[in-house]
Amino acid sequence: MAKLLTVQGGKPLEGSVHVRGAKNLVPKAMVAALLGSEPSQLRNVPAIKDVEIVTNLLQIHGVKVDADPATGDLTLDPRDSYSAAHSEIDAYAGDSRIPILFCGPLMHQHGEAFIPDLGGCRIGDRPINYHLEVLRNFGAVVDKSPTGIHISAPRGLKGAKLTLPYPSVGATEQVLLTAVLAEGITELENAAVEPEIHDLIAILQQMGAIITVYTDRTIRIEGVDRLSGYRHRAITDRNETASWASAALVTQGDIYVKGAAQRDLMAFLNTYRKIGGEFAVDDDGIRFWHAGHALMPLVLETDVHPGFMTDWQQPLVVALTQAHGVSIVHETVYENRFGFTEALKRMGASIQLHRECLGSSPCRFGQRNFLHSAVISGPVELQGADIDVPDLRGGFSHLIAALAANGTSRVTGIEVINRGYEHFMDKLGDLGADVVMSER
Ligand code: EPU
Repeated sequence: MAKLLTVQGGKPLEGSVHVRGAKNLVPKAMVAALLGSEPSQLRNVPAIKDVEIVTNLLQIHGVKVDADPATGDLTLDPRDSYSAAHSEIDAYAGDSRIPILFCGPLMHQHGEAFIPDLGGCRIGDRPINYHLEVLRNFGAVVDKSPTGIHISAPRGLKGAKLTLPYPSVGATEQVLLTAVLAEGITELENAAVEPEIHDLIAILQQMGAIITVYTDRTIRIEGVDRLSGYRHRAITDRNETASWASAALVTQGDIYVKGAAQRDLMAFLNTYRKIGGEFAVDDDGIRFWHAGHALMPLVLETDVHPGFMTDWQQPLVVALTQAHGVSIVHETVYENRFGFTEALKRMGASIQLHRECLGSSPCRFGQRNFLHSAVISGPVELQGADIDVPDLRGGFSHLIAALAANGTSRVTGIEVINRGYEHFMDKLGDLGADVVMSER
């Protein structure tokens, strides 16, 4: 039965939340275990839907997965893995984008891979052309069918010289997970260098891989014959951290995020400070709060690392509805990541979307008719509304808008938030939010 979340707004969120491993690292680290000839151990694993989906996918490929959700410890034993039946894989069609990253490891271990229709958030077209192109360059043969994509490596996989058209996180991970056991040397230019990519590289290095990252976004991988297992503690989820930080600002609250790591949040923290948010870093986490002064507007552009992440944009736009003046946000990573502003407008926000690049530099979407720039005027008093959650980050943004709004909001589609926010209902309770979940 579908769930309904009733939110009574107007209370500052105050207290402490514990954020564990990154949603954008943990599932990939789990896939990496498939490359090993021994078991791997991953710590700091959050209990989120994406971890559950990848656990199921690994299990249907014969990987033994032992999880302790309380401690966040996961053991992955790939020693008896095998090719799963297409029908079993197909059961996960539309659930997540991670299946595409099984290609390299499955081809190395079993000569072939099958990729169902992919899922993930609806924030743009989200094609997989970069992934398929790099796999072909390694020597893979790609056969598309109406149910999915069959990929095989009849002559093995060989290192290649590759350049990505855009520093895609997923395509960079695809190259890493394929190149480590490919024959010879792979050189990837224009690679993504997000902290989650560095964490995946650290895992692969522990397993026996030889990977060098150069300052010009080039990654060189020397293929090896065999990889062992790894023992690793996943980096903290910086997107969840930024979401709670934004929630503190929007609700005029004060939230300590245990586990938050300053180094991975530099661009976010600079922006947070410019808007008027306060933060204090200690050895165990970061405290975020609204200092009581008027919030300042700003001009912001999302970008690949080390820029301001696209995943931080949506929660922060809610804070900008409370800033005194006009803010401009230019989304340059996804062409369609402002759909969530419709609900904010119904709640009273003043937001206009534009097709032009309103940031300081033109992006790839400027000539292509996408509403990818937003002009936000504030401050406005948000009013409670009926909202259907569109995607993970957009959904969390709606939630914090509802928590700050006057009156009651009724939020549906809330299950989407479980994909990336561990125990978010418990955390909201700990922060003093007035929220009630019921069946519809
Ligand atoms: N792109 C292509 N072709 C491809 C792959 C990507 O055109 O084959 C384009 C995308 O359409 C997008 C851009 O390249 O416009 C960047 O996409 P990227 O491949 O970097 O994103 P991703 O790997 O699919 C991950 C995270 C996203 C996060 C982005 C950017 C995971 C599971 N997802 O997606 O996280 O926004 O990197 O950092 O790691 C989220 O957490 O809410 C989320 C969407």
